[in-house]
Amino acid sequence: MRKKIAAANWKMNLEAEEARQLYYDISNVKIPKNVTVFLAVPFPYLASLSLLAKSQPRISIVAQNVSQHTSGAYTGEVSYPMLRSIGVNWCVIGHSERRSIFQESNEILKDKVNLGLKEGSNLVFCCGEPLSIRKKKTHKAYVENQLTASLWQLSASDFDKVVIAYEPIWAIGTGVTASAAEAQEMHQYIRLLISQKYNKKVADQVSILYGGSVKPANAKELFSQADVDGGLVGGASLKAASFSQIIKSFG
Ligand code: PGA
Repeated sequence: MRKKIAAANWKMNLEAEEARQLYYDISNVKIPKNVTVFLAVPFPYLASLSLLAKSQPRISIVAQNVSQHTSGAYTGEVSYPMLRSIGVNWCVIGHSERRSIFQESNEILKDKVNLGLKEGSNLVFCCGEPLSIRKKKTHKAYVENQLTASLWQLSASDFDKVVIAYEPIWAIGTGVTASAAEAQEMHQYIRLLISQKYNKKVADQVSILYGGSVKPANAKELFSQADVDGGLVGGASLKAASFSQIIKSFG
């Protein structure tokens, strides 16, 4: 059965004490059976929170970004081996903010994906179209190109370590959510692409998360769609009350 995932993306928010408190609050939530909670937290909190989460097998601490290089003269960067050495074996790759603000191209993301698999990391790979593309109704081709450019070089067995997050950029942080039908349509399409490129078995086991203004009020409907296996949640993950409701929104 596919993993159901409630993933928090704290982005560049919270100071140390607030982060610790939020972690404690979330760790006290009764997580529904077969749901895993991911917390993608800022770099400074990865080590301490992954230590705390050792006693919480249902919570994984996730990096929000990583370098495409293993080590060397890359001031300010963090590598996969560094993450591994503090017990962090999940990383978000290609969030739209990394793509747009930090100019991460499909090619750079391909390198990050390949190095991640080589270094034994698990990946949450993000894709999704901007509003201009959605308006032109070319969003399927756009997302297909992102996947082709950065992910399709993987082998079928690599997909054991990959989760995909579909995040339409027009829905991120805007309060505008894709309708459940729009999310389902894209998730189904992504799964179809995986089954065409690999096979149905691989497609059926990959978890595909929806991201973009997921809130307690819409999580249940989104997560009840056949191909939506959970959410990547920004704003609503910063408060224990709203994120715990989202965790409990799996049917
Ligand atoms: P949002 O962010 O829930 O605040 O829209 C989602 C994301 O960027 O992952």
